[in-house]
Amino acid sequence: MKASMAKGMLEEIRWGLSRPQKQLPSKFFYDTRGSELFEAITELPEYYLTRTETGLLKTPVSGWVADMAPASLVELGAGSARKTRILLAAMAPGIPEGVHKSTYERTYKRTYAPVDVAGDFLLATAELLRVEDPSLDIRPQVRDITWDLDFVDDLPGPVLIALLGSTIGNFVGKPARELLSNVRSAMGESDLFLLGADLRPGEGKTIERLEAAYNDTQGVTAQFNLNMLRVLNRDAGTDFDLSAFRHRAFYNEGEGRIEMHLVAETAQEVRIPGGDVARIGAGESIRTELSCKYDRPVLTGMLEAASLEIVRWCTDEDGLYAMALVSPT
Ligand code: AVJ
Repeated sequence: MKASMAKGMLEEIRWGLSRPQKQLPSKFFYDTRGSELFEAITELPEYYLTRTETGLLKTPVSGWVADMAPASLVELGAGSARKTRILLAAMAPGIPEGVHKSTYERTYKRTYAPVDVAGDFLLATAELLRVEDPSLDIRPQVRDITWDLDFVDDLPGPVLIALLGSTIGNFVGKPARELLSNVRSAMGESDLFLLGADLRPGEGKTIERLEAAYNDTQGVTAQFNLNMLRVLNRDAGTDFDLSAFRHRAFYNEGEGRIEMHLVAETAQEVRIPGGDVARIGAGESIRTELSCKYDRPVLTGMLEAASLEIVRWCTDEDGLYAMALVSPT
């Protein structure tokens, strides 16, 4: 157990397991195995989010980015190198005829600042891109994306800040408002914010399609969900019996969100280091993740509250997923 990590972690676990609806923070999904399982999720036939967003990034978002011609890209949350490459390519205009490659690279120097708490993953991706394109100025920021983004001030402008993968969906209420106003504070007048968001069921998109993305037939999402208990047992010293819990995910229509839970099949007693015991009744659940879904009016309202407005908007033809280009008001 990492002593430095464990204390705050234990507090969060104790607090979450004493709520009427037991809950655990979804950040505990992502150890190395959890990150690998999430990567596997993005390739599942049912998980349309990543595939659809990648398609939209190629068209029309690449065109938006080319029009803006940003000098810097800030990516909040370590994205897949694949999506990053699409954006970086769109930032660089083609080499004009008769211009030498080195002259070109000096003229169109681009800066890439990925931001993530997972330092190892971040630095590995940064290294990969550095090898591919030595002219790229890479400035990885190992920090929580909800922290102050003051480093943006030092980047060459205009700056494009990207929050992809419907990562916004994990932020509910106050944290979502804080994240957006934090982004707004970091932006200058000519900077833009690119937001990827999974849509609510509606025209063309059924609840079944949405729920299937979180209930894949291969059970990868179930493994991902259960992995959190492994992380807690290893890093916080709890003694969850993984075989006693079952994955459950459903769309909460009233709240407009997917909820992931771990349901105890039989009554459980879980020891929390420091003396507490959490009692979980048979059939009782621990909520492990909220994944909010949006539509244009909902996003417009959230952005407006942070002095931001949508300047371009697109969805795929099935109405599954949206990308918004956002500017300060
Ligand atoms: C990374 C938060 C966008 O909510 O779809 C995938 C995480 N959870 N399958 C999502 C997730 C279950 C994902 N986000």
